[in-house]
Amino acid sequence: MKLKCTQCHAGAENQDRAGFPKATVCAVCHAAAGWSAPAIPSQRVYRQRDFVVFSHARHVSAGKVECVTCHGDVNLSDRVTLQVEHNMKTCMACHAQRKASNACNVCHELGQ
Ligand code: HEC
Ligand code: HEC
Ligand code: HEC
Ligand code: HEC
Ligand code: HEC
Repeated sequence: MKLKCTQCHAGAENQDRAGFPKATVCAVCHAAAGWSAPAIPSQRVYRQRDFVVFSHARHVSAGKVECVTCHGDVNLSDRVTLQVEHNMKTCMACHAQRKASNACNVCHELGQ
């Protein structure tokens, strides 16, 4: 239906977290009797460890990186799977290529 990603992940352009939709977003179209709200998310797929600083806004709005670059073609998939690995090596490789900073304290809050 060509729904925009941000219709369901409202934070992806201007907040750190992309976030998940509430079931009321689904009910706009799936309001038929007998439809019950699913648990959202049913399972987390992309998740960084808590000592890693990551912001969607910095990448999507400021960095102009597309969702598909970091999450693969979820728009063509029935379920979201880990199509793109994110670790220190892959983060730093893109930063080097795109001339974004690779100073340690960019991705790690030191001294805490
Ligand atoms: C803008 C309208 C709209 C919204 C919002 C929407 N859906 Fe849908 N959804 C549809 C339509 C239309 C289909 C049928 C698509 C088809 O048959 O190809 C569908 C299909 C589905 C299916 C597949 C059903 C099947 O039998 O294969 C699931 C599961 C689903 N939606 C869940 C959700 C959930 C969960 C949300 C909220 C996070 C949501 N939808 C939000 C319109 C919507
Ligand atoms: C109709 C609402 C809807 C739209 C539109 C939508 N998503 Fe989602 N997305 C969801 C829901 C609901 C989940 C959780 C699914 C689950 O847990 O089974 C999800 C999960 C994800 C995840 C996995 C997050 C994690 O780590 O667990 C990613 C990544 C994602 N979506 C990216 C996208 C991208 C990119 C687009 C646009 C191409 C998009 N989504 C469009 C509803 C939507
Ligand atoms: C530069 C890579 C990158 C881009 C671009 C990106 N994401 Fe993510 N996304 C990630 C990473 C890494 C995580 C895990 C973040 C964490 O755990 O702190 C994530 C997590 C998510 C999640 C899980 C909920 C959350 O916020 O943690 C959703 C949903 C999601 N992304 C959707 C999107 C959508 C939609 C877009 C495009 C508008 C997008 N992402 C663009 C890398 C990216
Ligand atoms: C596909 C390319 C790409 C990937 C992958 C990527 N980044 Fe970035 N990142 C960028 C770009 C481009 C910027 C600069 C955005 C700007 O101009 O402000 C950036 C900026 C940042 C910033 C803000 C820097 C500042 O100066 O405030 C942080 C933090 C960051 N990235 C963390 C990460 C982490 C952690 C990962 C891996 C989980 C990651 N990035 C993966 C392209 C990427
Ligand atoms: C562009 C982002 C980025 C930069 C810059 C960065 N890191 Fe990391 N770092 C990460 C990510 C993402 C992880 C988590 C990897 C994982 O979970 O596999 C990580 C993990 C680590 C770990 C834990 C390793 C482990 O196996 O538990 C250490 C230690 C670390 N980084 C130190 C550093 C140091 C020192 C620097 C500067 C030379 C640095 N990092 C620069 C993104 C970055």
